[in-house]
Amino acid sequence: MKTQVVIIGGGPSGLLLSQLLDRRGIESVVLERKTKEYVLGRIRAGVLERGLVGLMEEAGCADRLHAEGIVHDGTLVSHGDDMFRIDFTELTGTPVIVYGQTELTRDLYDARKEAGGSIEFEVDDVTILGADGDAPHVTYTVGGEARRIDCDFIAGCDGFHGVSRQAIPLSVRTEYEKVYPFGWLGILSETPPVHDELIYANSERGFALCSMRNSKLSRYYIQCSLSDSVNDWTDEAFWQELKRRIPGPMADKLVTGPSIEKSIAPLRSFVTEPMRWGRLFLCGDAAHIVPPTGAKGLNTAASDVHYLYEGLCEFYKAGSSTGIDAYSQRALNRIWKAERFSWWFSSLMHRYPEQSSFDLKMQISELDFLRSNKAAQTAMAQNYVGLPY
Ligand code: PHB
Repeated sequence: MKTQVVIIGGGPSGLLLSQLLDRRGIESVVLERKTKEYVLGRIRAGVLERGLVGLMEEAGCADRLHAEGIVHDGTLVSHGDDMFRIDFTELTGTPVIVYGQTELTRDLYDARKEAGGSIEFEVDDVTILGADGDAPHVTYTVGGEARRIDCDFIAGCDGFHGVSRQAIPLSVRTEYEKVYPFGWLGILSETPPVHDELIYANSERGFALCSMRNSKLSRYYIQCSLSDSVNDWTDEAFWQELKRRIPGPMADKLVTGPSIEKSIAPLRSFVTEPMRWGRLFLCGDAAHIVPPTGAKGLNTAASDVHYLYEGLCEFYKAGSSTGIDAYSQRALNRIWKAERFSWWFSSLMHRYPEQSSFDLKMQISELDFLRSNKAAQTAMAQNYVGLPY
């Protein structure tokens, strides 16, 4: 088989890239290790930056997002019982849209299907070959049968545990990492959200977040210990703990109910450089991870897709490799800023096991500054709604 771009990974970044390229007449094949149902079963954050919404529009996939997504003009930040609001729209002119990553992925699958896009599911043994030369190709097996695709370029959209990053020799790869000493315990419940905007809560018992998917579906998180397991937390214990971490008036109106999903996620900051090796380009979690505070995961993947899509269009339509040559640097420039924001927001909102009383005072005074200083709020809002591409 032969195609122009092999895309490894059928998550949102691979699908978005494939759909965008197709609209410009550039052919791709997507290879996914799991089934579609598995991919759609993964629960991820649900806050979309304007840039990602623009890409979904360009991909012709934004109708349901605009119909069902909820426009959020701001967010609440609380510290104990104190609470203040950051008004994104007033401070930056731009809101964010709350729309689950699962739904966005479903829309992309539907669009690829409608366009007759080529996606292979349940592929194994994916191997990237010749990426540093002129004849890149990918071999894999599906249902025990060996296959090979020759291509011009390979996009590695296969996540943190994927094969793409590992295909870049260690001698040319540098990795930067920070692991946080806590996790997030999250639940999804068929209950109305406690408030119509998100609440990021700093409390002396640890961080909590009140989020949502729609008016009948809520997503809540609490900071937990890395040694906790989901089975340690009954729904009742979760709700009790959440109530103790959010302001009293919010706790009083919180509607609780059975969880329909419960999971623990570790927090990590990670970046690999460079994001390009020959004809292989890394996108999204394959190249970088952010802690979830600020919901930058999908949005950083989207900015990679934007730069790569632009570079590939320049290559195929204008015969110029300027865009693909600049890909790694352009993507990384923006990634590091999102890394900084996610690290800063995480540091501001969580309790750290080793935190000294001085560290705590720093956190409290930074929250105080954010509450009362318009410049600080503007910087926070600019980063939250997403820096320009
Ligand atoms: C979520 O809704 O899952 C969510 C929202 C905002 C975050 C993280 C997660 O910062």
